[in-house]
Amino acid sequence: MDQLKKEAIIILDFGSQYTQLIARRIREFNVYSEVVSPEINLNHLKEKNPRAIILSGGPSSVFSDDAPKFDKGILNTDIPILGICYGLHLLVHHSSGAVNSTGKGEYGFAEVDFIKGNVITKHMSDRSKVWMSHMDQVTKIPDDWKVIATSSNGVVAGLINKKQNRIATQFHPEVSHTEEGRQLLKNFIFEIAKCEKNWTPNNFIQEQLKKIKAKSENENILVGVSGGVDSTVMACLINKSVGTKCTAVLIDHGLLRKAEAEKCVDALKNDLGIDVHLFDESNLFFSRLEGIIDPEEKRKVIGDQFIRSFNRIAGEFGSYKYLGQGTLYPDIIESGVSASKSAHVIKSHHNVGGLPDDLEFGLIEPLKDLFKDEVRSVGKQLGISNELIFRHPFPGPGLGVRVIGEVTKDRVTILQEADHIYMDILKKTGEYHKIWQAFAVLVPVKTVGVMGDQRTYENLVALRAVTSVDGMTADWYKMPSDILLEISSQIVNNVEGVNRVAYDITSKPPGTIEWE
Ligand code: XMP
Repeated sequence: MDQLKKEAIIILDFGSQYTQLIARRIREFNVYSEVVSPEINLNHLKEKNPRAIILSGGPSSVFSDDAPKFDKGILNTDIPILGICYGLHLLVHHSSGAVNSTGKGEYGFAEVDFIKGNVITKHMSDRSKVWMSHMDQVTKIPDDWKVIATSSNGVVAGLINKKQNRIATQFHPEVSHTEEGRQLLKNFIFEIAKCEKNWTPNNFIQEQLKKIKAKSENENILVGVSGGVDSTVMACLINKSVGTKCTAVLIDHGLLRKAEAEKCVDALKNDLGIDVHLFDESNLFFSRLEGIIDPEEKRKVIGDQFIRSFNRIAGEFGSYKYLGQGTLYPDIIESGVSASKSAHVIKSHHNVGGLPDDLEFGLIEPLKDLFKDEVRSVGKQLGISNELIFRHPFPGPGLGVRVIGEVTKDRVTILQEADHIYMDILKKTGEYHKIWQAFAVLVPVKTVGVMGDQRTYENLVALRAVTSVDGMTADWYKMPSDILLEISSQIVNNVEGVNRVAYDITSKPPGTIEWE
């Protein structure tokens, strides 16, 4: 990785909601990219050996007092720079140009005319649609800069300074609505920054195998697995690197999908050759969940019991110095660079498997530089099955937040059965992979029904299916009615205790994906 980081494109995050997306787009071209705080100083930045720097968009005005501070020396190096939106304003404001608020912003689509004959507009059309989101605009072009794009609203949409290798766009090339954004980024990465395509799953794996071995110094590593893609890929990498020094544990809190724990152990042991131990802690979890209805309280209890169980089990394993964690890059960006961006806490998400900071062992986090789609590519390269790699996300507290009301073993069993039928039909009909996340929910409501000639008074199960990119927003999935019919009748006919099925047609926002 260190070697690969020589080829980094470093993004200074001035607070745009699209900053992570810039990094993802660049990595899609097999070039490593990293998001850093805008406050990074020039020397520290240079240690990352940037091939190019990107100044992201952001909500501030360059002339406002609370504009993020940054090291102005960065603007005077010979490293190529791309400024996007606020980044453009910075480049113009800190040279001989001017940026002003005319009171008329551009939000959403705009048509842009590109001036051809520049390397940055290579293979692009004369005119195309772009995504704009700005209030301020350029009112004076700095010396040595030339306009390369103008929006149909008469706004300067792109600038170039050939002498210094500076490019600036008022629009967002990273957003998919910008029709030729990918091409523009590609031109910047390869024609201007002259990057090489060496950020590949295989290079990543080879580098990590060495790194894990070096860091763990021949000591034992304990790895917590959950059956999800992140922990499986992590366990697989660590196991490949240190072999018998790696031990995996799966704590079954009783809130996994039907037969999930056994399936997970089987895949890890038999398909991937990992030494994995299953601990059935479900009775402990169920007894602590007795009488609890409040969703936040449930999450806290489940999280707390997980840590207790993990600590006890870890103790039973004797001496180990390191713990493997499946932390991903977005977790680090969110908790680090963008920490100042406050967000209202809707639910206290926690990863069951995410442990407190004050533990007395070192952490091995081989996935901490990867986005989710990169974890999947690495998993594929490691030979992990598609079924596991493309599994829908599953929350740490599991079915605990899908059994609304009190979580008892009996109610979890009803939900597991209904959910199993639902997943099975989605997989058989090919719907599963069109959906980002699907699951059943047990609602604490009984309704009247009739089966045969008998009156029934049983539970309601709700089905949820959403499409999404990252779970931050989501649309309800327009499930074909014949498939809904099949799911509903299979559940009502086969799951004892359920006589009615409903389909959730709420998007996020205003709903959330999980019901609790
Ligand atoms: P919400 O319900 O907030 O969920 O719209 C967004 C995504 O996060 C998952 N989720 C969790 N994941 N621990 C997790 O690891 C949690 O406590 C948790 N709560 C929700 C949810 O399944 C969806 O994918």
